[in-house]
Amino acid sequence: MEDLRARFLEGMSRAATFVAVATTDGPAGRFGVTISSLTSVSADGDQPSLLACIHHLSPAAGAILKNRSFCANLLHEGQEAMANLFAGRGGDGHDNRFDRAGWTPGPLGQPQITGATAVFECRLATALLWETHHIIVGRVVGITLSEDPAALLYGQRAYRRAVHLPKEN
Ligand SMILES: Cc1cc2nc3c(=O)[nH]c(=O)nc-3n(C[C@H](O)[C@H](O)[C@H](O)COP(=O)(O)O)c2cc1C
Repeated sequence: MEDLRARFLEGMSRAATFVAVATTDGPAGRFGVTISSLTSVSADGDQPSLLACIHHLSPAAGAILKNRSFCANLLHEGQEAMANLFAGRGGDGHDNRFDRAGWTPGPLGQPQITGATAVFECRLATALLWETHHIIVGRVVGITLSEDPAALLYGQRAYRRAVHLPKEN
């Protein structure tokens, strides 16, 4: 079983993903956490929808469920420090993460991180606790796009950037 877990982690580490910060603000407080689990669900429902998987022990997960709104901030390729800040690397607790990040409230009051390449502001649609993680589905109500579309990636346990491949002849 331990071998299966280790092979799962190694296998998934080979899936390069983009890096986002899920933020929330409201009666349950202001929280943010770095995630690689941001996934598009549908562009063709009543509104576009996306999902994020957040560990149940992260205070950000409980706050999103109570605030019922959140932003998915897709980080720009230059925002590695922001990813580390909201992952708690460097020892920052939740209390001062927002003091060290530029952000402004979106129309729903959810924190939009300055410089993010795309910010999806969402209302909570539904959530499912699957073992250790909340699978959180949001209906997107507004999107802020930056001038520079380059997104930060994470794969094989390191931050990366996307490169163009030469066209095959
Ligand atoms: C690149 C990267 C991707 C991550 N993706 C997720 C994720 O999808 N879901 C999650 O719960 N934690 C993820 N984490 C871990 C959290 O950012 C965080 O460190 C951990 O959940 C501790 O929770 P807290 O910072 O909210 O206390 C990721 C961390 C990094 C550096």
